[in-house]
Amino acid sequence: MKELLWGSKSEPEDPELHEPEWFELPLQAEPGGSFDLRGFIQTLANARCLTRVRERIEWNLGIGRWTRSRHKPLLFENVKDYPGQRVFTNGLVDPICIGLALGFEASMPYASLIAQCRKRLGEPVEPKIVQTGPVLENVVPSIALDLLQFPVPHWSEYDAGRYIGTWHLNISRDPETGKRNAGVYRMQVLGPRQATISASKGSDLSRHVAKAEAKGAELPTVVAIGAPETTVMAAGAACPATMDEFALAGALQQKPVELLELGRLEAPARSEIVIEGFIHPRVRVTDGPYFDYYGRPDTNPNAFLFEATRLMYRNDPIFRGSAIGKPGAEDHQLFAFLAQLGLVDFHGSRLKQMVQNFLWKRRAFETLQTVGKIGSDLRRGKK
Ligand SMILES: Cc1cc2nc3c(=O)[nH]c(=O)nc-3n(C[C@H](O)[C@H](O)[C@H](O)COP(=O)(O)O)c2cc1C
Repeated sequence: MKELLWGSKSEPEDPELHEPEWFELPLQAEPGGSFDLRGFIQTLANARCLTRVRERIEWNLGIGRWTRSRHKPLLFENVKDYPGQRVFTNGLVDPICIGLALGFEASMPYASLIAQCRKRLGEPVEPKIVQTGPVLENVVPSIALDLLQFPVPHWSEYDAGRYIGTWHLNISRDPETGKRNAGVYRMQVLGPRQATISASKGSDLSRHVAKAEAKGAELPTVVAIGAPETTVMAAGAACPATMDEFALAGALQQKPVELLELGRLEAPARSEIVIEGFIHPRVRVTDGPYFDYYGRPDTNPNAFLFEATRLMYRNDPIFRGSAIGKPGAEDHQLFAFLAQLGLVDFHGSRLKQMVQNFLWKRRAFETLQTVGKIGSDLRRGKK
């Protein structure tokens, strides 16, 4: 396979990058909404942590390259073929940004941040159900729906296509118990209304699908993009079985998450984009290759097939996504943070979990990728 190089060697700093400006950021961040994505971007701008990219950037590999070659939150304001639409990446690319997303000052030492968060976890804050929210500003019925109306990036040359789900929430309910789950499971666009959902076998979503399939039923599912960062943190976390991910997010932000009631499911009311739909029973599709967190393309031949039935989005939506696969990228930063809280579980063997947790906690990202690649080679060898 071609040698994979990231960072300054393969991605030289772009000389055209404008110096960011720290004023007149037209985000329409609302008072009290500081935990929505717009509030967070504004907070990053105020703390001088945000780079606004005014150059025209291609959704096709351009956004991914820029994201991987810069260790700063990026707001793309001029995406080719998508005039007026914005894309935000690298939001949690370092511990300071994680602190800002949790409402701490940029000067907060990381050890104190972890200690504070451990305390917060002891006090779950239940979500507040609301009947309306900014995400209802635009509603598109199934017939007119096109997932590519947003500037969904083709993140890496190793990817099979455009990934709409890289930093988002997949929300579903257990068909037997009714317990809600929110997870982050990658999604590749397959058509105007269809996308993959690639969830590991041990995940809650896979359990929900299995239970629905046993009844021959589809599984209602909602996808939220540009949801509050605390909800993505909670969805990516190994949430205790007795706790709801949104109560965990509420604990992290010390404020209830507002959840918009959508019939059978709910989604954060302040998300940029919400897609209602379902998972087809007993249908499997190939997802990938996708350049994954251990720095290599990964294919899942048993992904679920998601069908979108209704789309909602805020005026001037900001598409939130992430370029995975570079050591120290924002997914690694998030897992390092969650490991400190004892909240990482990739559903592997106990040994794999122990090794991964050890390496996440020490922020040994390159070693983690090397170990991951060796593990995947061994598994392939066995097959
Ligand atoms: C950015 C990001 C991408 C992720 N992608 C996937 C994925 O594609 N498939 C998967 O099974 N888990 C993925 N995860 C991990 C799950 O979200 C995580 O294991 C979570 O705990 C799953 O919850 P569950 O145990 O309730 O299923 C991802 C996490 C993050 C933060």
